[in-house]
Amino acid sequence: MADNNKSVVITGAASGMGRAAAERLARGGWQVLAVDYNADNLAWTAGTQVASLVADVSSEADNARIAAEADRLFGGLNAAIFNAGIVGGGAIDEMATDAMRRVFDINLIGPILGIRACLPLLRRRKNPAIVVTASTMGLGGDSENWAYGAAKHGLVGLVKSLSRELGWEGIRINAICPGLTETGMTNMMKEHAPEAHQAVAAGVPLQRWAQPDEQAAVMEFLISPAASYVSGHALAVDGGAIVGTGLLAPATGKQRAMFHGTSPE
Ligand SMILES: NC(=O)c1ccc[n+]([C@@H]2O[C@H](COP(=O)([O-])OP(=O)(O)OC[C@H]3O[C@@H](n4cnc5c(N)ncnc54)[C@H](O)[C@@H]3O)[C@@H](O)[C@H]2O)c1
Repeated sequence: MADNNKSVVITGAASGMGRAAAERLARGGWQVLAVDYNADNLAWTAGTQVASLVADVSSEADNARIAAEADRLFGGLNAAIFNAGIVGGGAIDEMATDAMRRVFDINLIGPILGIRACLPLLRRRKNPAIVVTASTMGLGGDSENWAYGAAKHGLVGLVKSLSRELGWEGIRINAICPGLTETGMTNMMKEHAPEAHQAVAAGVPLQRWAQPDEQAAVMEFLISPAASYVSGHALAVDGGAIVGTGLLAPATGKQRAMFHGTSPE
């Protein structure tokens, strides 16, 4: 049963972790407005309790439409999850300027415009919470992903700054920093380079990719009363991938035994 005091807008909700979050929160009694610019993929919401809106998060006018629709539907927002994003890579001296700008417009400027548009609605509710989806590339760097990485680092900086700017109003803001997650964004690798898809998981201590709902579960936690004293945090949800020194691969039992010169169990 939907609860009038639990309303949330989620961007990038046509696919992947945004869709998983919309489904999970709707199951948990939240009133959900699912936003995406991909109208076809947003069609999953038809016949469900989840409301939908086709909008481009990089547009200021579209962010005003998102806020207006949330106002019309719910009269306020308890939470907002700015999750829409695109990948976009290329060498520093090769990536086209337009493509670079698009990566920043969607991944960084989009959430900024979204927060600005939704703040008046969040201020109408008690203890509101904002989550942005950054990335482990917002905590570390990777070759030929400098634009994406810089945009995601920007989100982490945004969260730290806004936690200090908005905290006195009782507004919390956090980032999740997903690692490898099987979504629309990464499906191409799974389909066209299955060996590489499998190989990158070897760099993750848990030795596997995440499923979208494992990210959605953390988003749900961060907007819930259980996280009532958590703000300004950038939480890696990455199976332990980024905490290594880079000197040794994550140890499986067999690798550990070889390293220490003992026989594998
Ligand atoms: N999948 C991963 O391994 C991974 C890892 C780290 C971070 N992320 C981040 O997670 C977030 C969710 O991505 P995902 O992995 O679920 O991918 P996804 O492609 O399945 O979902 C992203 C959604 O965002 C939407 N979108 C993109 N640009 C938009 C725009 N301008 N306006 C409105 N909607 C837009 C897409 O249409 C898509 O439905 C992104 O911010 C992404 O950068 C993903």
